[in-house]
Amino acid sequence: MNHYRTLAESDPDIYQAIQDETRRQHEGLELIASENFVSEAVLQAAGSVFTNKYAEGYPGRRYYGGCEYTDVVENIAIARAKELFGCEHVNVQPHSGSQANMAVYLSVLNYGDTILGFDLSHGGHLTHGHPLNFSGKSYKIIPYGVKKDDETIDYEAMEQLAQEHKPRLILCGASAYSRVIDFERIAAIAKSVDALLMADIAHIAGLVAAGIHPSPIPHCDFVTTTTHKTLRGPRAGMIMCREQFAKDVDRSLFPGIQGGPLVHIIAAKAVAFKEALQPEFKTYQQQIVQNAKALCAGLVDAGFRIVSGGTDNHVFLVDVFSQGLFGKDAEKALDAAHITVNKNSIPFDTNPPLKASGIRIGTPAVTTRGMGESEMKVIAEVITEVLSAPNDETVRTNVTKRVKELTAGFPLYANRLSKVDSASGD
Ligand SMILES: Cc1ncc(COP(=O)(O)O)c(C=O)c1O
Repeated sequence: MNHYRTLAESDPDIYQAIQDETRRQHEGLELIASENFVSEAVLQAAGSVFTNKYAEGYPGRRYYGGCEYTDVVENIAIARAKELFGCEHVNVQPHSGSQANMAVYLSVLNYGDTILGFDLSHGGHLTHGHPLNFSGKSYKIIPYGVKKDDETIDYEAMEQLAQEHKPRLILCGASAYSRVIDFERIAAIAKSVDALLMADIAHIAGLVAAGIHPSPIPHCDFVTTTTHKTLRGPRAGMIMCREQFAKDVDRSLFPGIQGGPLVHIIAAKAVAFKEALQPEFKTYQQQIVQNAKALCAGLVDAGFRIVSGGTDNHVFLVDVFSQGLFGKDAEKALDAAHITVNKNSIPFDTNPPLKASGIRIGTPAVTTRGMGESEMKVIAEVITEVLSAPNDETVRTNVTKRVKELTAGFPLYANRLSKVDSASGD
């Protein structure tokens, strides 16, 4: 085996797929709320030789030799995460957001314990109690939701449910909720029933780090997150907790549910945290929210109903069924015009999740490309055009052309694209 052959030489099939994906990301409008584009520096760390290293254990306490540089990386990641979020303890090893959540549950719950969690059909996540997920299978899940009139979290009902069911753990945080979450109020509810409190800030972590969304850290026993959404790091997870739970959480993750950490990804997390500590990151997060508000306003002007009437953060749900479209068909029509969104249930949805009444739209990725409010106006226009005539080929062709023109003005991974164009090795 020749270690020095380029990817293009040694595996043209995968090389070609990477080329195609680079072009797709460059030419399309990425509006999936949970996606983002990492920096070259983060990509470089993620693609580094640390992928070769086994490092079971934690800094200074490893089960393998040769971990001196791994310890440097993990200690830096820990220190930066603490500075960014102001937490007492952090574990940067979770491979994903789901594993971060699982590790917390296993550290303090027994199977069958009661969890009060945000209803999945109102914006919660699979790991907050879906019947097919380990969470729904392992624990008794009591869901709370949003109010029917204004589609914001029903804190009063949450309190009543907490009093009635006396959960061991209350979960807050969401995958599709566009309003500010009142962590302080939820903490008071948890305290009143002697429940532990966990916030899953996978979606809003960047906003929290930048001080744009109130932080759950002072109010929660545990805060979990992914690192790849608004936080704009590599695809992975992280757990923050009060010092008193540190040992249990660490043990629960390793050796509880994971083996060796992904050191290359921890290196990439450290790089992303450094980026998030810069003043520009705050400006970026502010722009994400301004863009979400602008895009939302453009769609409202075009006659769409937005769940809860608007957004305070990076995401919002459009009720396309009120215009006679299933979310599934809206997603497909937009995709064909190189506009990527995902179908999403809306609260009190009358359609099944695979059809869904809504689409979820987020602005972290387009904001990373440098787009601002004027581009959001154009995006609202092209979305409206497609959804007004989802099966019209001419509309699709015209919109695809407009999307290509728009994205061409905001190059993404330009250095990698030129390699795609010249089809040279990488
Ligand atoms: C709120 C929330 N928690 C957890 C996760 C799970 O993250 P992962 O896909 O990394 O397992 C997600 C992912 O979308 C999420 O939105």
